[in-house]
Amino acid sequence: MARTHTLFAKVLHWGFVVLYLYGIFKQVEDLSQLENAGLLLFEVVFAIVFLVIVLTRYFYMRRFETFLGASEPIPIAHTVLAKTIHRSMYTCFILLPLTGLMIAGLYSQGYTVNASPDEEQTVMDVVLGLHGLVAETSYVLILVHISAAFYSRLKGEGVWSSMVPFWKEKGPTNSSIIKRITSVENGVYARFERFFTSKDK
Ligand code: HEM
Ligand code: HEM
Repeated sequence: MARTHTLFAKVLHWGFVVLYLYGIFKQVEDLSQLENAGLLLFEVVFAIVFLVIVLTRYFYMRRFETFLGASEPIPIAHTVLAKTIHRSMYTCFILLPLTGLMIAGLYSQGYTVNASPDEEQTVMDVVLGLHGLVAETSYVLILVHISAAFYSRLKGEGVWSSMVPFWKEKGPTNSSIIKRITSVENGVYARFERFFTSKDK
């Protein structure tokens, strides 16, 4: 039988999706809103809870291999690519609350942004810029992640079914177009692997 992620891993994955969406949509719109002490406290508690859940998830998931549900062996270069995307997502999910907490700390110490673009940037400008950049990077990574999950579903590798509770796979695809695309893709991975193994010798 195909291997599947544990119930806890699925709860962490889908529960975290809800938490992340909430974090993104309820976000503070500008610094002046932090004048409200209740909101500031809520943001700080939310950021700490978010960080604890991300770290719990990261350490729990480390024990499982990438592409746990795959029915066929996955090229090493493909696994490295997926791991890189996963780690980059985790990096964003850690930096988002950390920079948020820095904003809260700086704000309560009286730091603020510079009103005029001609003046030198304050430390608050830099941290706010970083906070926004991390948020935008996370959107791109998640888009890549979801596209890769759909592509894997079309191939019928079993990875989708190991994490997603619907539209379960019934085996590898019979579509000749998808098979052709997959063979081009595997050719690219094989080239990368040859390149790196020949460099090691
Ligand atoms: C339609 C939406 C989504 C689908 C179909 C999906 C599917 C999957 C699948 C199949 C895996 C398992 C990969 C494996 O076994 O190696 C996975 C892992 C993961 N997903 Fe998603 N995902 C979705 C949305 C999201 C979103 C919105 C986030 C972030 C907020 C996210 C973050 C992650 C992370 C970080 C992992 C890696 C888990 C680990 O091994 O540590 N996913 N996802
Ligand atoms: C996990 C927790 C958090 C998430 C997911 C999050 C997410 C975001 C996002 C997506 C933006 C918009 C960035 C942009 O598009 O440029 C934003 C802006 C902002 N965040 Fe957070 N944030 C978090 C925690 C915090 C905390 C704890 C604070 C401070 C108490 C904070 C203060 C701000 C402020 C002031 C802005 C507005 C920046 C501006 O004036 O353009 N955030 N946040």
